[in-house]
Amino acid sequence: MTSPIRTERHDNVLVVISDNPPVNALGQAVRAGLKDAIEEALSDDAIEAVVIRCDGRTFFAGADITEFGKPPVGPNLPETLDAMEASDKPVIAAIHGTALGGGCEVALACHYRVAVPSAKLGLPEVKLGLIPGAAGTQRLPRLVGTEAALPLVVGGNPISAKKAQGIGLVDEIVGEDSLEADAIAFARSRIGQPVPRASEGTANEDGVRDPDLFDRFRASQARRIRGFDAPNAAIEAVKAAGTMSYVEGVKKERELFTELMSGTQSAAMRHYFFAERAANKIDDVPKDTPLIPIKKVGVIGAGTMGGGISMNFLSAGIPVTILEMSQDALDRGTGTMRKNYENTAKKGRMTADQVEQAMGLLTPTLSYDDLADCDLVIEAVYESMDVKKEVFGKLDEVVKQGAILASNTSYLDVNEIAAATQRPGYVVGMHFFSPANIMKLLEVVRGEKTRDDVLATVMKLSKTIGKVAAVSGVCPGFIGNRMLSKRQEQANALIMEGAKYWEVDEVLLDFGFPMGPFQMADLAGIDIGWHRDPSKVTTIREALCAGGRFGQKNGKGFYDYDEARQRTPSDEVQAIIADFAATEGKEQREISKDEIRERLLYPMVNEGAKILEEGMAQRASDIDVVWINGYGWPLYTGGPMFWAQTIGLDTVVEGLEKHDLPVSNYLRERAAGSGKFD
Ligand code: 3HC
Repeated sequence: MTSPIRTERHDNVLVVISDNPPVNALGQAVRAGLKDAIEEALSDDAIEAVVIRCDGRTFFAGADITEFGKPPVGPNLPETLDAMEASDKPVIAAIHGTALGGGCEVALACHYRVAVPSAKLGLPEVKLGLIPGAAGTQRLPRLVGTEAALPLVVGGNPISAKKAQGIGLVDEIVGEDSLEADAIAFARSRIGQPVPRASEGTANEDGVRDPDLFDRFRASQARRIRGFDAPNAAIEAVKAAGTMSYVEGVKKERELFTELMSGTQSAAMRHYFFAERAANKIDDVPKDTPLIPIKKVGVIGAGTMGGGISMNFLSAGIPVTILEMSQDALDRGTGTMRKNYENTAKKGRMTADQVEQAMGLLTPTLSYDDLADCDLVIEAVYESMDVKKEVFGKLDEVVKQGAILASNTSYLDVNEIAAATQRPGYVVGMHFFSPANIMKLLEVVRGEKTRDDVLATVMKLSKTIGKVAAVSGVCPGFIGNRMLSKRQEQANALIMEGAKYWEVDEVLLDFGFPMGPFQMADLAGIDIGWHRDPSKVTTIREALCAGGRFGQKNGKGFYDYDEARQRTPSDEVQAIIADFAATEGKEQREISKDEIRERLLYPMVNEGAKILEEGMAQRASDIDVVWINGYGWPLYTGGPMFWAQTIGLDTVVEGLEKHDLPVSNYLRERAAGSGKFD
């Protein structure tokens, strides 16, 4: 097998080149090739400096994740990098694309780093439930200081070449199109000078001078890292760089890394990494399916949903024509969009110019005719089949042939909507989640007649607008809401049997959800879909609305809210629930947290199994992608289906039986068989 590493001599400089598509992951052959190349340079007196660069779209994007969990084959990354750093001849990393994880650690082991302006550098290991494992947590603080290293190692977000230069991680920014030549020139300018080694740096002393730095940082990140093991380990590792010798610090990093690697959180997060990428692929749609160019988008409805949907496209530089029924509604909607952008600008995440650029791409209209030349029209109108059919009928009349017509419905039959047009092949569901400009998930609903090019285009477009897409077949509620309804059924049943509604919420918070079902109801508004007749009370929600309890928006829903939106359980609501339970003759009992958790989550897994059996989801991991991105299922458990496998599908079956809840044949079969869904 030919090595992915080759060397080229440029007089006294050896250029070491990696060609390991798609992202130059540091698999065994790459590591071995790098080590050999360094030995080649050291054993040749004519060579006075080394440049390491990559072919293709990026510098090394990290260790090869597919090797994780398999028996290691040497040389390992730390020893390869130690050999590199030990060289007395200057070694220069020439960076383009993304130097991530192990790739950033390669750069840190080099004596100098040059990068093109578009390059990014980062240590995203925490996103895989890990910390850097090739001395990144020890070299980085010694090079750039502990304070600058902490957010990089603990947050995992990459930074631009310019920012990296600002903290001393990059030595020189070079020409976008002359990386190799500039890196060689840089290398020559350093020949004969003592080589600076990051492992011998002293910038980490800021952590020694101010040992409280670590606790302060941990406190500032508390909300973001709740429940995750890796960020805490990352803080420990960087702290070790501030308090221990380099050798001891590396030992500490290795201990923490090994522990995380063998834990369930990292397994779950690595599962998710591949799940997200798999979800964007549709098994029976050929890879080379031609795409429909999307140069202009139409959105029907300028309410919260329509406005949010539009912002995705505007932010990506795609013009949007937004349609409303009245000038008032149009003005209100576009006003809200502007305000949202301005708030983002106030937080420093956008410039005033960018706000104007995005809003400049928006055309408000009251006329369907203005949608005629759109390549994609998404309707975000009221959830009623009659209304949707009318809208699609009109679109069919006015919008050019070959355009995609999408519905943002969250549970209606997309096939029936498609049948209201003469071009059902061009109709698809694009289910955004509220707030649509922020939530990552896009559930793409594939109708019976949806064409391949329509699906392929929508999947590609999802990436352009920064969404994570997963495909669902047509069934009530699709993947996400269909499973949510099973959880909600149990939440309602539990409070009728004696569980307190705040206990139900707490169980989900403890599990790692950002909120429970009753908090969610308060946030969304209890009065959504309410008939507005206070004399007609047949459900708890109707009783709450009749009593003026609409949710967070008026300070009382299931909970009472103070001015700072702090919630406290309400005696009044508990009395309403007790009344309903008495009327229905429900016996009240103490219900344990274990029972609450099992009854909320196991029926979701069962429904997920049914969704798989019916072919409504392509793979179990797609279901995980939906729940992690659309409903706050904790990432570190890998999503409902992966989590169920972790605790054992037989445990789920037994739990459902214990609570007298239905068990699908498919779940039973899988539990009795491999214990796995995919
Ligand atoms: N190992 C193995 N495969 C990888 C990989 C890696 N580190 N990074 C990406 N890939 C694969 C993807 O699975 C995908 O495969 P597919 O085409 O079969 O689906 C393919 O490469 C292309 O990836 P993307 O679709 O993600 O391409 P993008 O252009 O959108 O993004 C990227 C490129 C920014 C590099 C992104 O892939 C990424 O973030 N990769 C992971 C980076 C990372 O986490 N690095 C740290 C690894 S852990 C580590 O280094 C430990 C060390 O400290 C010891």
